[in-house]
Amino acid sequence: MNKVGVVIPAAGRGERAGGNVPKQFREIAGVPMLLRTLRPFSAHPSVEDIVVALPAEVVETPPDWLSTLLGERLHVVPGGATRADSVCAGLARLRNDCDIVLVHDAARPFVSRETIDAVVEVAASGFGAVPCVPLADTVKRTVDGVRVVETVDRDGLWRAQTPQGFPRTMLRAAYDAAGARASSFTDEASMVEANGATVCVVRDMSSNIKVTSREDFIFAEVLATR
Ligand code: CTP
Ligand code: MG
Repeated sequence: MNKVGVVIPAAGRGERAGGNVPKQFREIAGVPMLLRTLRPFSAHPSVEDIVVALPAEVVETPPDWLSTLLGERLHVVPGGATRADSVCAGLARLRNDCDIVLVHDAARPFVSRETIDAVVEVAASGFGAVPCVPLADTVKRTVDGVRVVETVDRDGLWRAQTPQGFPRTMLRAAYDAAGARASSFTDEASMVEANGATVCVVRDMSSNIKVTSREDFIFAEVLATR
């Protein structure tokens, strides 16, 4: 059986969500977002190691609920200035025997076991895996942020979510090839694609939202209590 390692970038400031505390530490229906995000991975039988990249000051003094979980299968590292830097820091700390790596945003607390399993299966067969949802809305392109110049054909277009999964060597090679340009990629899959490897879409659920804005916390409360 493959050994799966998980890197969770959780070192962002959550500026778009506002508030006094970075969004990943805020509670959704009484449970911190990051704790919700961790649970399906720590409960997964193939997951051998989880590394969470945190803001440097939080690594020094993690919240109590996180301190009690730290151990052989869960570590924290200081993240970096960009998401890519945070993922890189996590990758470097991941146990050597994990041959499959999943990268999952701390800001997606509602990932399903089905999605994790499907991503692991594709990655274990030697491909990159990106969980996606087909676009439901009509897509417009503007020139100046106002005037529509084109309605983009949405056929074949998908929204990419996480966890994205890869053979570890494939992801490592993509980060090495990207070097200083790593932060110009918005997800791991695009970096792997740019390095010439094959990435496959895994159908995901739209409930696997990324909590980004203030308003998303309203949706999150609903999803958590349904
Ligand atoms: N992230 C990270 N290190 C950074 C920036 C982001 O680990 N330097 C993480 C965030 O904590 C989040 C994920 O990457 O879990 C996705 O990023 P995003 O949703 O953009 O979160 P933030 O960057 O925190 O939010 P914002 O862009 O609104 O400030
Ligand atoms: Mg961000």
